[in-house]
Formats: sequence, structure tokens, C-alpha cells
Amino acid sequence: MLGGMRAEEVQSDITRVLVTEEQIRAKLDEVAAQVTADYEGKELLLVGVLKGAVMVMADFARALPTHVTMDWMAVSSYGTGTRSSGVVQIRKDLDTDLHGKHVLIVEDIIDSGLTLSWLLTNFASRGAASVEVFALFRKPDAAKVEVDCRYIGFDIPNEFVVGYGLDYAEKYRNLRDVAVLAPHVYS
Ligand code: PRP
Repeated sequence: MLGGMRAEEVQSDITRVLVTEEQIRAKLDEVAAQVTADYEGKELLLVGVLKGAVMVMADFARALPTHVTMDWMAVSSYGTGTRSSGVVQIRKDLDTDLHGKHVLIVEDIIDSGLTLSWLLTNFASRGAASVEVFALFRKPDAAKVEVDCRYIGFDIPNEFVVGYGLDYAEKYRNLRDVAVLAPHVYS
């Protein structure tokens, strides 16, 4: 059972912290410096993938000292049973025309890689000047397809992680750290 509104209940749902808020902040500064150098003189459009990327987008965008614009997409796979098919449905498309834009897709996590792989194919036909990916977390052991990802925050083990945008049944996204969910929560 998911806990209610008591803070102690949230803490007892966590077995261990995997990446702290401070480590995330330091990594975002590091990637932001790299992105600033790589895109010097170019106009950068950050595309966040809802909902998991909300936290990383908010902090990463503020770590960038240059002008950037932001847009959002919401996608979902066609039902959990067919997730491995990699078929994705657009629930909210971009407001921006990508023609001539330098696009950096900002994701919280690459798990199987299917979502990003589909998104990259989808974006390829929209006339962007360039499309790259920044994923804060990646689970190499869960990969079903390789995703060409230019910026990676942390490679993490294939465990059930929550926090900093990552959810279980829509909860835990608001945790400041990324932590391993205790098995009693989902078993
Ligand atoms: C998560 C995450 C990525 C995707 C990664 O989103 O934000 O978009 O899964 O998994 P994959 O590499 O196996 O495709 P989810 O569909 O859970 O939606 P959410 O962002 O709203 O939590």
C-alpha cells in the first residue's frame, strides 16, 4: 500500500539513497558547462519529456547562463502490455516548429531506451538543425535498444528507483534525492 501524507511513511518506503540532491546539482552544473561550450553561438531549444523530466528541466535550465527556450512533449506507450513494442503515442506535441533549431531533449531516465529511440526517429523528420539527448540517469542493464545520448548524468543499477521526477504509481516524484524503493511498496 502506498502511504498517506506522513513524512515518516515516505522515508520507510525507501531502502537507500542512490544519488543525493547535492550530487545531482553538481552534475547538472557540470553538464551545463559542457552544453554551454558545445552550443556557443547557437540557439538552443530544450525539449522536456513529461512528466518525469520536470525536475531535471527546471534545475538544468537554470544552470545554463545563456538564452534558451523550452518546450514539452507528453508521450505514452500503448498500454503497459505492449511497452516492449516501443510504440509510443503523442499525448501533447511540441508547440515549436523544429526547422533550423538546435534541439536538446532533456530526459530523467533511459530505461529500455524505447521512448527516446522513438522520439529521435520522430524528431528526425521535423527539420531540426541538430537533435541531441541529455539523460540524467541511465540503466545500462535495462537497455533493449541503444540510444545515441550525448550527455549522461549517472549510470545506475537496474533497480526500482524513485525521486527527482521518477515515480511509482505517480508518487515519489517530489523526493529531492533518487532512492531505491523498498519492495514492500510494490509487492
Ligand atoms: C519514463 C521516463 C522516460 C521513460 C524511459 O517515463 O521519464 O520517458 O520512462 O523508459 P524507456 O527507456 O524504457 O522508454 P514514463 O513513461 O514512466 O512517464 P513519466 O515521465 O510521466 O513518469
